[in-house]
Amino acid sequence: MFPLRRNRRLRTGEAIRSLVRETIISPNDFLVPLFVVEGKGVKEEIASMPNYYRYSLDLLEKEVKELWKAGLKSVLLFVKVPDELKDNKGTEALNPDGLMQRAVKTVKNAVPQMLVMTDVALDPYSSYGHDGIVEDGKILNDETSEVLGEMSVSHAEAGADLVAPSDMMDGRILEIREALDGSNFTDTGIMSYSAKYASAFYGPFRDALDSAPGFGDKKTYQMDPANRIEAIKETQMDIDEGADIVMVKPGLAYLDIVREIKNDVEVPVAVYQVSGEYSMLKAAAEKGWLDHDAVMMEQITAIKRAGADIIASYFAKDVVKLIS
Ligand code: PBG
Repeated sequence: MFPLRRNRRLRTGEAIRSLVRETIISPNDFLVPLFVVEGKGVKEEIASMPNYYRYSLDLLEKEVKELWKAGLKSVLLFVKVPDELKDNKGTEALNPDGLMQRAVKTVKNAVPQMLVMTDVALDPYSSYGHDGIVEDGKILNDETSEVLGEMSVSHAEAGADLVAPSDMMDGRILEIREALDGSNFTDTGIMSYSAKYASAFYGPFRDALDSAPGFGDKKTYQMDPANRIEAIKETQMDIDEGADIVMVKPGLAYLDIVREIKNDVEVPVAVYQVSGEYSMLKAAAEKGWLDHDAVMMEQITAIKRAGADIIASYFAKDVVKLIS
């Protein structure tokens, strides 16, 4: 007896495999995270993120022009704030001439069509390295949300297309939506980090911004990695409050959540393949233990297959180079 059906017929060569391939990666899938620092002519490699850099504004301009040429049309900005400007309330975040505000203008000047998203959270500005205002060792929710609303308006004034709150305070999406609308920024969108887990994969990012929490951890606001149903609740609430795009973060270890959210919601779903995911592969590839490009493509494909409409990834440039 022969097998009645032979699945291998559809795998006999690259032509047939590409014909039946379900998941195709394109430059349109990516959102590129960028780290910005003060100074001139600065391009510093982040120690725990090989081949990833912090740029001063002049070199940021060059970088975004290159990204645009490569077909990468969206960036997500993060700033490294000098220590002397940090305080408990993140006052510097509202400075109309602050680094983030200037970074937005720099990108828009360099490439007006580039979509600019900004990170909205207090941790890069906080003397405690937390995503909220601290009182008696606790992170204040409502007071923090209010600042996030003001911060979002400040980013919109600078020219941001979408703001991306990464903090996990309750009710901040509504607070931000109302603040934006109240200042006539009705077209400024919100990409919410809606299911953001208290993950150990964020370590290298905190090196990049020098933003590690000074005490304790982030488990009172970010989600417990053990929880699935809670991710749906968080995401649904953010959509109800006005999120235009929702996000699951980190990526690879949470692809079950990505699929679940994707099946459940009508808004675009973003996935953040975070710093630790990037660094793990770079380290293993440096040692010669993994094939960098093959594993990178497999991971990105898995994230998209799981349901990601948008992938925020430090690999964006590498991927686009490989597939173009
Ligand atoms: C903080 C923030 C973090 C990341 C994005 N925004 C770290 C954290 O929550 O401590 C992590 C991104 C990454 O690891 O690549 N608001």
